[in-house]
Amino acid sequence: MGVVERSVITDIRLAPEGHLKIDWAAAHMPVLNRIRERFEREKPFAGLKVAISLHLEAKTAYLAKVIAAGGAEVAITGSNPLSTQDDVCAALVEDGIAVFAKYNPGPEEYKELLVKTLETKPDLIIDDGGDLVAILHAERQDLLANVRGGAEETTTGILRLKAMERDGALRFPMVAVNDAYCKYLFDNRYGTGQSVFDGINRTTNLVVAGKTVVVSGYGWCGKGVAMRAKGLGANVVVTEVDAIRAVEAYMDGFAVMPMLEAAKIGDIFITVTGNRDVIRGEHYAVMKDGALLANAGHFDVEVNKPDLEELSVSKRTVRKNIEEFRLKDGRRLYLLAEGRLVNLAAGDGHPAEIMDMTFALQAMALKYVNEAHESIGRRVVNVPYEIDEQVARLKLESLGAAIDRLSDDQKRYLESWQEH
Ligand SMILES: NC(=O)c1ccc[n+]([C@@H]2O[C@H](COP(=O)([O-])OP(=O)(O)OC[C@H]3O[C@@H](n4cnc5c(N)ncnc54)[C@H](O)[C@@H]3O)[C@@H](O)[C@H]2O)c1
Repeated sequence: MGVVERSVITDIRLAPEGHLKIDWAAAHMPVLNRIRERFEREKPFAGLKVAISLHLEAKTAYLAKVIAAGGAEVAITGSNPLSTQDDVCAALVEDGIAVFAKYNPGPEEYKELLVKTLETKPDLIIDDGGDLVAILHAERQDLLANVRGGAEETTTGILRLKAMERDGALRFPMVAVNDAYCKYLFDNRYGTGQSVFDGINRTTNLVVAGKTVVVSGYGWCGKGVAMRAKGLGANVVVTEVDAIRAVEAYMDGFAVMPMLEAAKIGDIFITVTGNRDVIRGEHYAVMKDGALLANAGHFDVEVNKPDLEELSVSKRTVRKNIEEFRLKDGRRLYLLAEGRLVNLAAGDGHPAEIMDMTFALQAMALKYVNEAHESIGRRVVNVPYEIDEQVARLKLESLGAAIDRLSDDQKRYLESWQEH
């Protein structure tokens, strides 16, 4: 059966718009273009099947095409029900890639699509948040046999993988792409910082300047979100559970306080912790009328939705991706994009130039795990430094920027303990 018949998508007729989106992204991904040229020559994935679960929009589609250019047979699905773009899916099918994804399938169909992707019996996996790996280990061990290894995109997925490794449950090596410098320093910080406000601004069409923005979590994503909120003129409050990160936020010029206090003064709340129930009933109880609630962490559990439902007398959609919850005392709270990652569910995700680096790492990490899977064993490993450095050098080259080189004398000086 060909990919058109095998694929499960919304409508193949949407392909022309999808091709335009993918071409635009590809034109702004010079590092990945260099890797594509290499893959076309070297065919590192010849004869292999690759299953991918990522936010299925244009940049991801281009990564899938680059992996296919390396000789792989690729099957792809989304990593969130609301971040899949149907036109991009259609274009990928026309490009010969099997796609199992739709915008906003119900929870059951969403899971079925993940399973269908795994049923292609992949040799290699790219996962985002750990769903493919979790299904393989917990429910479909019959599909484990072929899998040589894979690469994980995000903080939340790596936490899950490390828990599996600790329990001795992990059956193949996974590369922690998120933990590479060229990922978290740029994608989590600058990517999330910019795209979260892209999502919030286009969804609400409201001003940020002068408002109080509460950012929960001052990790790599939170630092980016707080930085951009400040740039837009907001008064920024950070909530944390980690004392060191809280001091960092304070020194960066932000107010630091517990959520219960922040809840009383915030106009816009953005959670980016990777944790659950960060905003919950006791916080809704003291929030101002009209407060906006958004999440940018991987799962939709950071803003507690059952508590919000319970405290509300009614809810209605007031604009695409905005639900108004009317509380018993008449106050209204607005939940964006159902509490799912606002930058992807209500936007196009990170800028292309940022994903250029992240996906260059993904492509190289997949090649690495394929070559080294036997020696790595059943572990979660970092992206080798040489790959990280190579991506940074290609990025600099694409920016037309050069850096200095150490002289032999300088190298000796740095490496000796007597010469100082
Ligand atoms: N939206 C996106 O495009 C995008 C991009 C990258 C990562 N992510 C996701 O964002 C989340 C955060 O990623 P990160 O790289 O910043 O992680 P991180 O580990 O660097 O930071 C998370 C921070 O949240 C803090 N935290 C945990 N529980 C908290 C609580 N109850 N209240 C306040 N702070 C709390 C931690 O102390 C930590 O400082 C993860 O789920 C990750 O997968 C999203």
